[in-house]
Amino acid sequence: MNSILHRTLGRKPPLVANGKGVFLNDREGRTYLDACGGAAVSCLGHGDGEIAAAVFAQMRDVAYVHSSFFTTEATELLGDRLVGLCGPWARSALFFSSGSESMEAALKLARQYHLERGEPHRVHVIGRTLSYHGATLGALGFGGLENRKVAFAPWFSNDHRSLVQTCYPYRYKRPDETDAEYGGRLAAELELEIQRVGAARIAAFVAETVAGATIGAVPPVDGYFRHVRDICNRHGIILILDEIMCGMGRCGSWLACHDEGVEPDIVCVAKGLGGGFQPVGAMVVSSRVHSVLEAGSRSFMHGQTYMGHATVCAAALAVIEKLDRLKLVRRVADRGPVLGQLLREALGGHAHVGDIRGRGFFWAVEFVEDRATKQPFNSGGAVATRIKAAAMEKGLLCYPGGGNLPGGCGDHILLSPPFITSDEQLEQIAAKLKDAIHQVFAKGTQP
Ligand SMILES: Cc1ncc(COP(=O)(O)O)c(C=O)c1O
Repeated sequence: MNSILHRTLGRKPPLVANGKGVFLNDREGRTYLDACGGAAVSCLGHGDGEIAAAVFAQMRDVAYVHSSFFTTEATELLGDRLVGLCGPWARSALFFSSGSESMEAALKLARQYHLERGEPHRVHVIGRTLSYHGATLGALGFGGLENRKVAFAPWFSNDHRSLVQTCYPYRYKRPDETDAEYGGRLAAELELEIQRVGAARIAAFVAETVAGATIGAVPPVDGYFRHVRDICNRHGIILILDEIMCGMGRCGSWLACHDEGVEPDIVCVAKGLGGGFQPVGAMVVSSRVHSVLEAGSRSFMHGQTYMGHATVCAAALAVIEKLDRLKLVRRVADRGPVLGQLLREALGGHAHVGDIRGRGFFWAVEFVEDRATKQPFNSGGAVATRIKAAAMEKGLLCYPGGGNLPGGCGDHILLSPPFITSDEQLEQIAAKLKDAIHQVFAKGTQP
């Protein structure tokens, strides 16, 4: 029997047997160094007995209650903990079972905020090109990952959403521009779009603080998000930051926006929040937004069966406590530049490596046909997929992405190793990846 609708039909991936630390073992006896934590999820690696014990203890006490009847200590403590580490601007949190659900909730909350303030005309959402906010129709529709949207285009009305350019200096910063000028140009484009739509019609601006899987770990230029924050403030627009991939310590701070010097109105986190031990996502709400609901309807117009799920929250709480106790976010900040340096040494000279960029333990290598012109491959992402496959053969897991640039071009691989990865393992990552890349390009560049 083969009853699962696998990602590629009829192609069953290897059966995993177990995981320990940064390694996964399959049933055939092969071992893989997990250099991407799945999709930037497994911040504590695999097989962590402490987190498993916390999950088991919660399930034994009570696994699930409906949030209209009860709350649980795990849910309450996680809320306090998460709000606390987000910073003084944060006031409340709500937990879901995925990043997509958290983004749906954030978008609905932004709308409700304006309704309760007596501004019902604020319906429009501005997002960014080349960005991903989730697979559900709302989150997908407001993002800018066109090749995932095209089949469903008839369901997405363009009346109440539009996109501005994402911040992607490697491709779109002009050669004669400084970072500050580039950030200023993008801000001016946002201002123009706001004028075009009419500020009084705009509910929210949505952006990934560090762009994730679509283009591969692209930190913004310094100052860009300060411009964005200022523009949103001036026009009464809610700033929703999507830190589902880049947040929770992945970039070396609890939130990536901490490094940008901005405070969002709503931020969503997910992947590293539960470290993969349970499926969890969260929306964290600022005092500004929270207080409007408090003074108004006193109720968020949204509900899901598994909101604030006890077992899910117990896992996330245990993950945060462990990250904090072992000072692993600081370790990511310290060792992130080492990973970057290792990648540059191993790959920087390769003819088809166009860019190596990232922050903390969130890095990407972008592949190009021609380094001088930055001409991407037109393989629909096949180059990245081949590198993933070659790396996997060598016992290394890296996360491929591609086909997302205009015309279905572009290839990159993401590296987002667990925060417990040792220096020696970081060296192994760079060495194995180098082998895989050389092997793939030695065979030629055509898929
Ligand atoms: C930036 C970003 N937002 C949202 C999502 C959606 O999260 P999920 O797949 O947990 O629904 C993802 C998933 O990759 C993501 O990277």
